[in-house]
Amino acid sequence: MRTIAITNQKGGVAKTTTAVNLGACLAEHGKRVLLVDLDPQANLTSWLGFGKEEDYKSVYDVLVNETPMAEVLRAFTIDTLWVAPSVVELAGVERLLANEAGRDSVLKRKLDGLTEGYDYILFDCPPSLGVITINALTAAREVFIPVETKILALNGLVTLTHTIQAVRDRLNPALEITGIIACMYDGRTNLSREVLDKLRGRFGGKVFNTVIRENVRLAECPISELPIHLYAPGSAGAKDYESLAVEVIGSEKTDTGADADKDQ
Ligand SMILES: Nc1ncnc2c1ncn2[C@@H]1O[C@H](COP(=O)(O)OP(=O)(O)OP(=O)(O)O)[C@@H](O)[C@H]1O
Ligand SMILES: [Mg+2]
Repeated sequence: MRTIAITNQKGGVAKTTTAVNLGACLAEHGKRVLLVDLDPQANLTSWLGFGKEEDYKSVYDVLVNETPMAEVLRAFTIDTLWVAPSVVELAGVERLLANEAGRDSVLKRKLDGLTEGYDYILFDCPPSLGVITINALTAAREVFIPVETKILALNGLVTLTHTIQAVRDRLNPALEITGIIACMYDGRTNLSREVLDKLRGRFGGKVFNTVIRENVRLAECPISELPIHLYAPGSAGAKDYESLAVEVIGSEKTDTGADADKDQ
């Protein structure tokens, strides 16, 4: 069992694109995958065709009301893929939880007893380092950081690694950055190559070998309400996320967090 927060406080770096398509590819490999949409923008929810009803149960109810996580889960058409949908009201959670004791571990508590049912739980985080992201970092064992390789923004990564360190010290000693994902890569530009070199220089083997190329099919994909491998099989985006999934599965054995969980 692996719990992975897909996070980067910078907006638009492909967190949601990665959660949806990595999650779907893992599920196609037979892995039982739960995608938890923690962003009030609810992009992951709508991408997979959920959240159209006037009123539906969401992670808002889980975090703020007494609703158990199991009650909000929705099954996607891929057999082993489930979604915990978000809703715009989730934006209010930051304020509602602000003064509560134990506010950083609400999500972790709500997942108790549920985690055994999955091989992967992926948290799609909002573009901020607020209470919701801290909840994801407290509930997860691993962090994947998608990085946009079209701009050099390594300062933001320093802030993020400090936040992760603070969560590790205070709330979740087992938390580890296990993957940096180079996204929106354009090999024709010096800049993309330079950013990738810098990432590999700074984070070494934590950077996945798979690079997600810039691909217009990925940008079109959400409207289809399908993951990329169903919307545009054979596209660069489908190939890259499949390759990433294979790499992620390959790291199961060597990942100490995953092994420790299996032994429990
Ligand atoms: N490899 C890619 N090639 C082309 N477009 C991409 C690629 N990856 C993501 N995009 C596009 O970039 C935009 C941002 O992606 P996405 O929504 O996944 O980022 P995000 O980090 O989740 O954003 P936010 O911080 O707002 O939650 C979207 O329009 C998406 O379609
Ligand atoms: Mg997003």
